[in-house]
Amino acid sequence: MTLEDVEHIPKVVVVGHIDHGKSSFIGRLMYDLDQIPDGKFEELKEVSKKRGMDFEFAFLMDALQSERDQGITIDTTQIFFRTKKRKYVFIDAPGHKEFVRNMITGASSADIAMLIVDVCEGVKEQTKKHSYLLKLLGIDNVIILYNKMDKIKNDEKRYLSVKNEMEEYLRNIGIKISNQIPISAKCGDNIVKKSSNIKWYEEKVVSEVLDEFDVDSKNVLGPLRLPVQDIYKIKDKRIIVGRIESGKVSIDDELLFLPSNETVRIDSFEEWPEPKNDYFAGESIAFTMKEQIFVDRGNLVSHSETPPKLMQTFEANIFWLTHKKLNLKGKYLLKINTGEYSVSIKNIKKIINTDNLESKSSSGIIRKNDVAEIVLHSSQLIPMDDFRDNKKTGRFCLLDEEEIIAGGIVDLSNYPDQRESSVQPNIKPVELAVKEIDRSNKFNHRSAIIWLTGLSGSGKSTIAKEVERKLFLRDFNVFVLDGDNLRMGLNKGLKFSTDDRTENIRRTAEVAKLFSQAGFIVIVSLISPYKSERKKARDIRPEIFKEIYVSASLEECSKRDVKGLYAKANKGEIKNFTGISSPYEEPDNPDLILNTEDESVEKSVKKLENFIVENFSNLKKS
Ligand code: ADX
Repeated sequence: MTLEDVEHIPKVVVVGHIDHGKSSFIGRLMYDLDQIPDGKFEELKEVSKKRGMDFEFAFLMDALQSERDQGITIDTTQIFFRTKKRKYVFIDAPGHKEFVRNMITGASSADIAMLIVDVCEGVKEQTKKHSYLLKLLGIDNVIILYNKMDKIKNDEKRYLSVKNEMEEYLRNIGIKISNQIPISAKCGDNIVKKSSNIKWYEEKVVSEVLDEFDVDSKNVLGPLRLPVQDIYKIKDKRIIVGRIESGKVSIDDELLFLPSNETVRIDSFEEWPEPKNDYFAGESIAFTMKEQIFVDRGNLVSHSETPPKLMQTFEANIFWLTHKKLNLKGKYLLKINTGEYSVSIKNIKKIINTDNLESKSSSGIIRKNDVAEIVLHSSQLIPMDDFRDNKKTGRFCLLDEEEIIAGGIVDLSNYPDQRESSVQPNIKPVELAVKEIDRSNKFNHRSAIIWLTGLSGSGKSTIAKEVERKLFLRDFNVFVLDGDNLRMGLNKGLKFSTDDRTENIRRTAEVAKLFSQAGFIVIVSLISPYKSERKKARDIRPEIFKEIYVSASLEECSKRDVKGLYAKANKGEIKNFTGISSPYEEPDNPDLILNTEDESVEKSVKKLENFIVENFSNLKKS
């Protein structure tokens, strides 16, 4: 197998300041390569004439684009073109946001980038921002097109001065220039045909330069990175599906899955009619495993000898894409590879002015299109690479309520791998012969920690007990851990001081973990008044932890006063009573809220029962 066997159509992106001639250039290139559908060119010339306008090649692009959007004539999503040597596809980059989304969602990370600059206008702010964006997105080798040469009468001096300015800027941000070509999209100079107008330029034209471009052969040779896209169940088979971002995977390989840190051998590749023995970067694969382990979308597969890093706290460079303010306290959604994680921004280290690359005064305010160095934190360990090591697995985007607010790249130079941080010396965990997944397959559901928090008297125990009963009748392996009950044994002696409650929550969370390892759906019913301690409980097994806020106002709970404790607390007979003389911190972002003040117990029970079945039953999912 050679590199050429890997079918790969180079993806080309053209960026530049608005009106510097992106569309005209693409239109002209397609025309000169004879790639315009029959009659289209004549038709548009005719339309322009009727309207009394000069024909422009940009019209051609617009027309192709709108046909593309309607799904006629050409491929419905992308514009392809062909030179003598190979096929290419243009990635559309109408705006920053779409561009970042396209690049990050992976389907269209560009192989070749062309930066277009109007020689009349010279280097503009957008030209710089776009260059920086290219850099951030891993393209560090660009072709520069100096357009509208006809407008400056092909003046070499003017060309050289713009070229100088461009070179200096790109050198500063660390982008290499592979070629620089003076062109005129309007006249068709130096695009496919050598121009007789620009006599002093003796090098290659755009189509030749494209054909010579070495398209990311490096990725095929690097360490294996395979983000899991999906898991299909077909009869008894579990098939893992994903696209290889870098490296190679062979049938005899042992694979490492992160973040679970489990290794497993491949049983078979699934491909019709005949699977191969090796698959390479850029290819999508489907495979089954010799042993069953838990695999989730977002897991990153590698070889054990060359794993990615596992990070909770890491640094990144981001490009801020929104007018929204950055909220240091807020939670954002991080999409990296195929995984999604809740993260917060811990710290803004620096905001960079893309114009002069200086650090902005430390106002701490990031504005739209700013670049910044930040520190991110997640409660989960996230598999990733430093961007300099792997451009595909070292970049991400940040979302706020489904809006992409930033694109970024990972910088791990100041942060070590955080996988080992919890390992204790001289303690070696014993690997059990019965695995959690075996239990899960037997019980037909995954294990779960369903953590009910709320004031005393809010209804936690009532709901927990009833949901337990219902799930038990549906053959679920389910158990309630109730605060009062635990305080009779394991947590005997703990009172209600901050320290004691913290320890109470910690022990309960550890017991919940054990039950989850035994394959149970554990329903925890505990006031657990502190956010920080509930978060620690979540962090033990974040992938199966659900925080359920059982909500009722203090007035309502005091009125109910089932155990008569509020009356006593109000009289001062009980110290540190939650809600009266000790705080209760409401969850910011619970996975489910059961409002027992407004809805009946039956309704809350039904809601929670459905929630658990939806999220954890194997039968529900397929
Ligand atoms: S937690 O705060 O440590 O999570 P936990 O859920 O275990 O509390 O115990 C709460 C139960 O203990 C309540 O349902 C109530 O019956 C009883 N209790 C006794 N004293 C207090 C107190 N000072 N504050 C809250 N609950 C108390």
